[in-house]
Amino acid sequence: MPDAIFHFPPDFRWGVATASHQVEGNNRNNQWWEWEHQPDRIAHGHKSELACNWWQDAEADFDRAAAMGLTTLRLSIEWSRVEISPGRVDTAALDRYHDMLQGLRARGIEPLVTLHHFSDPLWLKEKRGWANPDAIPYFTRYVEQVVSALRDTVKLWCTINEPNVYASLGYILGQFPPGVQDLRTASIVLRHMLQAHSAAYQLIHQLQEEAEVGLAHNLRFFDPANPRNPLDRTAAWIRDLWFNQTTPAAIWRGWWLPPLGFGPALASRHTLDWIGLNYYTRDLVAFDRNAKTTAFGRITHSQDAEPLDGGYGELYPEGLSRAIRRLASLGLPIHITENGIPDADDDQRPRALLRHLHQLWKAIQGNIRVMSYYHWTLVDNFEWADGWTLPFGLIELDPQSQVRTPRPSAALYAAIAKGNAITPEVIDAYAPELRPVLLPA
Ligand code: FCB
Repeated sequence: MPDAIFHFPPDFRWGVATASHQVEGNNRNNQWWEWEHQPDRIAHGHKSELACNWWQDAEADFDRAAAMGLTTLRLSIEWSRVEISPGRVDTAALDRYHDMLQGLRARGIEPLVTLHHFSDPLWLKEKRGWANPDAIPYFTRYVEQVVSALRDTVKLWCTINEPNVYASLGYILGQFPPGVQDLRTASIVLRHMLQAHSAAYQLIHQLQEEAEVGLAHNLRFFDPANPRNPLDRTAAWIRDLWFNQTTPAAIWRGWWLPPLGFGPALASRHTLDWIGLNYYTRDLVAFDRNAKTTAFGRITHSQDAEPLDGGYGELYPEGLSRAIRRLASLGLPIHITENGIPDADDDQRPRALLRHLHQLWKAIQGNIRVMSYYHWTLVDNFEWADGWTLPFGLIELDPQSQVRTPRPSAALYAAIAKGNAITPEVIDAYAPELRPVLLPA
């Protein structure tokens, strides 16, 4: 293809990502279902209900992904379906996952399977969830069941999705279950999740030699609102330490950083075959003496920033190459396990997608091993505490009727995936205003 300008490596994989509770429907046995049924927890009182109906018919969306030319798909296994009560495994649920995964393979789509993506069985919640150190052996017992049942269909395993987000939203900001606001408990929870990751890493390799095991890390930039103000710089650095640094320090470098502790984390060292990057946006942080629960940092945004829908922050595509370069210092292969924006009318997404993928291309040109890109997400799904108010899908969903309507971005992404490149034709067709930016004369 002589006119294709931004080529991706020949073995690069294009995919979409999602998580069990957000798409399966009727996940009644986890802490999120319970949370949704409490007053004032979710925007507008929305509920996941049937979600995207994947438990009945994920295959219809797999067909859509295949038709778009996608060659990988990230989904998660719902612990509360597999282990319905402590130690009691539902083999029919494992069979259903096995069918889904075989269905992906039959369509030429390589699955990437997450073992924990925010949702916990109700029975675990009743035992104090991840604040309880027993969550670690409970998790590995569940992982053993899943990996033993599904290893013939999965090679790429992601142990836990975004332990930093789980701990921050559930235990500092209180916006996710269990709605706690306490940094000490948040630190304990994060530590337990990272220990569980490392234990699962070892176990998966015992069960499946060829497995490639990683974790999806949400990296968000916290830049000082005023870079010349040392108080802003310190407040931003504290956020960065907690959110961005503690996870890779523990599970790759084998070192606990504050507030998780300080000192060697020997059992956790080098427990990654790859690192997953979930990148969305950045915040500016201003020192605020009243912001005690958030380490004296208040989030702001610059006047010039282009806001994303639903108060989701600012459009900051440069952050993707910045984040990739930062993670590259670990020396591990990188999968972009999530990236996308909420945009119901798709007026920003084509441009945002092209700008992010251009940043990804730039990072790859710098000889960084990025293996794949998973767009968040294929079909609008249940966005946790934001309910149905953040439409991240390439395809629009009406959750009541289950009618799906592709947005222009779906065709754009398909064109990029099929061509394995961003061509001038694609730029002209979907975001001509970017031509002078991406293709300066
Ligand atoms: C990430 C979550 C994912 C989704 C996106 C928008 O933090 O991993 O489930 O909600 O944000």
